[in-house]
Amino acid sequence: MCGIIAYLGEQPAYPRLIKGLKRLEYRGYDSAGVALVDQDIQVFKRKGKVSNLEAFTETLASQTGVGFGHTRWATHGEPNDVNAHPHLSNNARIALVHNGIIENYASLKATLEKEGFVFHSETDTEVLVNLIQAIQDANDLPLEEAVRLALRRVVGAYAIVVADKREPHVLVAARKASPLVIGIGDKEYFLASDATPIVEYTNRVIYLNDEELAVVRKNGDLEVKTLANVPLTPYVQELDMKIEMLEKGGYDYFMLKEIYEQPNTLRECMRGRLNAEEGWVRLGGMEDFASRIAHAKRFIMVACGTSWHSGLIGEYLFEDLARIPVEVEYASEFRYRNPVLTEEDVVIAISQSGETADTLAALEIAKEKGALIYGIVNVVGSSIARLTDAGSYIHAGPEIGVASTKAFTGQVTLLSLMALHLAHQRGTISEPRYRQLISELAVIPDKIKKVFEQDAKIRYIAGEIKDRSNALYLGRGYNFPVALEGALKLKEISYVHAEGYPAAEMKHGPIALIDENMPVIVIATNRSAYDKIVSNIQEVKARKGMVIAIVPEGDSVIQTLADYTIEIPETEEPLSPLISVIPLQLLSYYIAVFRGCNVDQPRNLAKSVTVE
Ligand code: AGP
Ligand code: GLU
Repeated sequence: MCGIIAYLGEQPAYPRLIKGLKRLEYRGYDSAGVALVDQDIQVFKRKGKVSNLEAFTETLASQTGVGFGHTRWATHGEPNDVNAHPHLSNNARIALVHNGIIENYASLKATLEKEGFVFHSETDTEVLVNLIQAIQDANDLPLEEAVRLALRRVVGAYAIVVADKREPHVLVAARKASPLVIGIGDKEYFLASDATPIVEYTNRVIYLNDEELAVVRKNGDLEVKTLANVPLTPYVQELDMKIEMLEKGGYDYFMLKEIYEQPNTLRECMRGRLNAEEGWVRLGGMEDFASRIAHAKRFIMVACGTSWHSGLIGEYLFEDLARIPVEVEYASEFRYRNPVLTEEDVVIAISQSGETADTLAALEIAKEKGALIYGIVNVVGSSIARLTDAGSYIHAGPEIGVASTKAFTGQVTLLSLMALHLAHQRGTISEPRYRQLISELAVIPDKIKKVFEQDAKIRYIAGEIKDRSNALYLGRGYNFPVALEGALKLKEISYVHAEGYPAAEMKHGPIALIDENMPVIVIATNRSAYDKIVSNIQEVKARKGMVIAIVPEGDSVIQTLADYTIEIPETEEPLSPLISVIPLQLLSYYIAVFRGCNVDQPRNLAKSVTVE
């Protein structure tokens, strides 16, 4: 977590840092701080949002062209002013911002304390800045060398930017398992956790790799080397991101904008990969390993949160259409449970950010064991995208709202394309069925647009249930993972306790919770299990639960049973999650708005979880 932004150039750093921190705020918002580097280092930091920091620093900030900022998602020490970054070394000469966790901080801290160092915060980060000072003091080393030696003693994950007031024209940065991008402007450099704060100044970037260190100097020099001191020639890439993608564009929240973007983002995801007229799907990412993928004994999807829900839908799709066994794993469990893996397995990592630490670690294990690893990722150039053997981007554009929406439908679209491609290749699908599903996938964006016609009704229903403190989401088959996703969306942004269940499981436990205070959201679009879902609804009504049902257009049976219905266009069952999740996204959005929650930045969460 955490967002880092640094600037070194001819312009005043401070306004660029504040603007950059606002763009990065979705990564963490426990506190914010800046360091402005001159003959002296000015450090300002404040608990809470970047706007708090801005109000406090505006008139005090120097005009220097060198500095860095940080927006924190706390791991070590509560969110307060003292634990906020940047942290200063004991001699106040070195300032540092950090994203990640220094795992051996306790032993390093004990050693430094014995040498007389004093610690003011509870963070692991303060240990690192003092370790750098200790190494510098002992050997009178330039900053760059002291940082390099310090990092060789550190266990854990980090992206850091460091400055030394004795070298005010230099910034040193390094990364291991937390992202860092260098933006190359005109006589200026940016260093940031992702490209979002850089894109309005330059589209030329370098993605730093693990255990690499970069030094930027005001005279224009840029050096990249390994922690073993081997110089490298960095690879400069051109970013394909527009500034409008990072603005709310008239919507109250990014989440609502991103919900409404889905018809377009799904079209982007399918562009060049699906041709409904000619009746084919293909994925460039699969071509280099086509035979290994088609003959895989098993697929294992690893992911966290919403991306894990996409993986569950992937399991239904791959098994149903391509007849290949699939396992879906929480990356955090997979990495610690000694999984059985062979070279005949394909591990699919699903991640919006491409930076989730647990997913990355799971992939390292899969790689060690010789499995082929395939990435389904949104953020271009992210760590997961670079670690995988092959993969496909979902092309959803930047997703800023912490609650994932368009990335989810992008992932499910990509998994649908993969499943169709594999099914065709393996001969497990008839030609007419293949063509039918392709034609249907192509019109899903238009059907999502039709769901938006229900916006006012969904908003009304949200108003009716906004004060309830629990909710149950039920779905069957392909729509069971959608129930999980609907419940997660509600929990995340409106702090209402919610659970998702397979509809038939309700009678094995959750039914005990049902009374007149319990809204039950039933996804009742599956034709194959329609009668059974009707029975589930009857069971809820018999216990006075309130039923909100998502039904196929024109449904007449459930209309008479449920308290509220939301009609959505019908589609082929394997593709139904792409449509049925939309009303659930909108429902949670409006409930959160009615409850006065900060939809885009829910408490305790951050967009990209780069720590364990
Ligand atoms: C989604 O709404 C969540 N904020 C969260 O569960 C997220 O999906 C999870 O952290 C995984 O992130 P990733 O897709 O970037 O790997
Ligand atoms: N470990 C550091 C802290 O707690 C950085 C946190 C992070 O990157 O999430 O302040």
